[in-house]
Amino acid sequence: MSTTSFPEGFVWGVSTSAFQIEGATSADGRGPSIWDGFSADRAEACDHYRRYPEDVRLMKDLGMAAYRFSVSWPRVFPEGSGKVNEAGLDFYDRLVDELLAAGIKPYATLYHWDLPQALEKLGGWPSRDTAHHFADYASAVHDRLGDRVDTWFTLNEPWVAAFLGYGSGVHAPGRKSAAEAFRSAHHMLLAHGLATRALRSAGATRVGTVLNISPVMTPAQVSDFGRELSEEDAEAVARIDALANRQFLEPVLRGSYPAELLPIIERHGGLAHIRDGDLDTIAQPVDLLGVNYYTPQVVQAQPSETADPAFPGSEGVLFCTIPTAVTAMGWPIVPNCLSLLLRRLSREYPELDLMVTENGADFVDTMTGDGIHDVDRISFVEEHLRALQSAVEEGARVRGYLVWTLLDNLEWADGYRRKFGLVHVDFATQRRLLKDSALWYRDVIRRNGLTETRPKRPTLETVAARAGVSRATVSRVVNGEAAVSADVRTTVMRAVKELGYVPNAAARSLVTRRTNTIALVLSVPRQGDSLTAAVVQYVTSMLEGAGKQITLMLADTAESHRRIIQQAEARLVDGVVLLPPDRADTLAERLSRTGVPIVLLGKPAVASLVPYVDVDNAGGAEAATEHLLARGRRRIGMICGPTDLVSVQDRLAGHRAALHRAGLQPLLALADLTRASGTAAARQLLGDDPALDAIFAATDQLAIGALQAAREAGRRVPEDLAVVGFDDIDAASATTPGLTTVRVPLADQALALARLLLSRLEGRHTESVILPTRLVMRDST
Ligand code: FCB
Repeated sequence: MSTTSFPEGFVWGVSTSAFQIEGATSADGRGPSIWDGFSADRAEACDHYRRYPEDVRLMKDLGMAAYRFSVSWPRVFPEGSGKVNEAGLDFYDRLVDELLAAGIKPYATLYHWDLPQALEKLGGWPSRDTAHHFADYASAVHDRLGDRVDTWFTLNEPWVAAFLGYGSGVHAPGRKSAAEAFRSAHHMLLAHGLATRALRSAGATRVGTVLNISPVMTPAQVSDFGRELSEEDAEAVARIDALANRQFLEPVLRGSYPAELLPIIERHGGLAHIRDGDLDTIAQPVDLLGVNYYTPQVVQAQPSETADPAFPGSEGVLFCTIPTAVTAMGWPIVPNCLSLLLRRLSREYPELDLMVTENGADFVDTMTGDGIHDVDRISFVEEHLRALQSAVEEGARVRGYLVWTLLDNLEWADGYRRKFGLVHVDFATQRRLLKDSALWYRDVIRRNGLTETRPKRPTLETVAARAGVSRATVSRVVNGEAAVSADVRTTVMRAVKELGYVPNAAARSLVTRRTNTIALVLSVPRQGDSLTAAVVQYVTSMLEGAGKQITLMLADTAESHRRIIQQAEARLVDGVVLLPPDRADTLAERLSRTGVPIVLLGKPAVASLVPYVDVDNAGGAEAATEHLLARGRRRIGMICGPTDLVSVQDRLAGHRAALHRAGLQPLLALADLTRASGTAAARQLLGDDPALDAIFAATDQLAIGALQAAREAGRRVPEDLAVVGFDDIDAASATTPGLTTVRVPLADQALALARLLLSRLEGRHTESVILPTRLVMRDST
């Protein structure tokens, strides 16, 4: 079999971290860490503290050349500083000896997020002293292991530790302060500099750090990296890149903070913590940069967005969902971004050696009689390795690749339900079982490369051929349908087993669901028929593409509601996409009580836990109103649609917010949704205020009505009166003059709905999606 090879001496291995695998949190004098009580799951993890010889043997059998582990600070200094706990260091001593005996190079990370609780009590990372304690700790570890460990990483992903730990509070210690997050980040950088200096003066051979670096791009760039951006989007991308990536890269590798970052830090607690000389300390020469890559950051400019707490300073930036395959974590799978990222780093830092120190994926693993055939994980790693290789071919200085991770483990705030391991761990018995991905990785390491052709996975067709039945019969058997004879069932199941047939994530619903049918429920009548039509068309084609059948149902009477609920209760459908009516009704809630996954189009009138997809109505109205203000309009009337409609409420709120900022009062006229009522409302507004110079209407129909009223009153549009609508219906481009309006993304809403439902069918945690809108400028303003 021909192979594509990696450079000679390319380092293959895996990464782990102390807290996620060791367990034994009170053994041999270890002190508490900030993570011990933070995670919902208990911290016994993989009991690696006692089972390390077995784990090292596994790595040896798989042919690993390197093992990146982290040292637990509270094992070495139970109080964070002061007296070294020799018994804690003994563990790493034994581990390193075991690794060397197995021919595996130890790579030690000094900080993988488990700060001693004692130091958190004294102020944690927002306190400068923590950086100095870290340098002392680094020296103590080097004193003990430096004769055998030659590769040292100071920190793992300081962005995560600072901004999830102290900014959004999703990670330990769970503080929520932008100022503390920026201070923490700076002190982590300082800790890196001080420790690097200490390690080097103690004779360490190779010192570096590990950063999580995500390419930042707009949704359109995901499929076309070279795509030109509008000025606003380019600014949004650059700002998030500064916050996520360059905040760390540039101090370490250039000795300065990105210029656009300093005013952001200043706004969040000031710059006093960045002292003279700090940046020189931080910019110690490094020998190796560890890069952890999982997924890109996809963003675009969206003026109405408030800052994401994990990215203080990200006001006006929308973090977007994109229609790609995702891992069980919900992280979009974009392998080419790895090569983009490696090429960028090699271009910007041509002297720097790089290593991919983490890359891997969480997928739901299915245990079959003969193992775990984790084809999704294999594809994930394989595609990323191909991307890595293409970067290497273009000259990127990548010295190795470490999979995250060896063992299924304690995935921080998410606990044990995440499965990133090449090796399955049964947490009840601590038994290890190699997944197919581990064996596949062993072969990659052996041949230092990938095979040209991918191993073929058995498909439904292969099973059908082996069992001598039709594809439909196989489908019926794996779906557990009753109408198949016992004999046929046995034959099919035997073939499934012999071939090791496991449907991939997309197809898994074949075995776990009974019907493979999705109900697309339409409540009529509803406004905006073009929306309904587009959503039906796109949702249907996307779900059919994922192998589902769609049943269209009308929810227009009490009797039809009853029927739909009965179908869900009888599990005749696997999931429901509901296009609810504009006004409150209870169908969504009643359906969600059946336990069948359901997703909604549009924010529901009654607050509920059912996830929905909506557009940013408030942001769109705000942008429209700001546009009128920017054109010098000061007396702006709004024609509201019925205010019991959620979308109208949101549009009104956005309009008010923009006026409020400009120190202006709203002038409102109510209408229903017809064009004629728009005309009447505009007449009223013009009559009430002869100096009125603009109208913002909640929909295009209403705005078209307003154009009519303006004509009747002899007002010229836009000279005397500017008019803006909302929805960008076909007619809006055909009015005289053409109507400026707010465009809502039709296809994106449908794609997001379909994706949301697919995620729910996979049992993943799902959140509602709000899509950005865009102002379309025409002659009416
Ligand atoms: C990285 C962490 C690692 C693990 C993976 C999934 O951010 O460094 O510990 O949680 O993500």
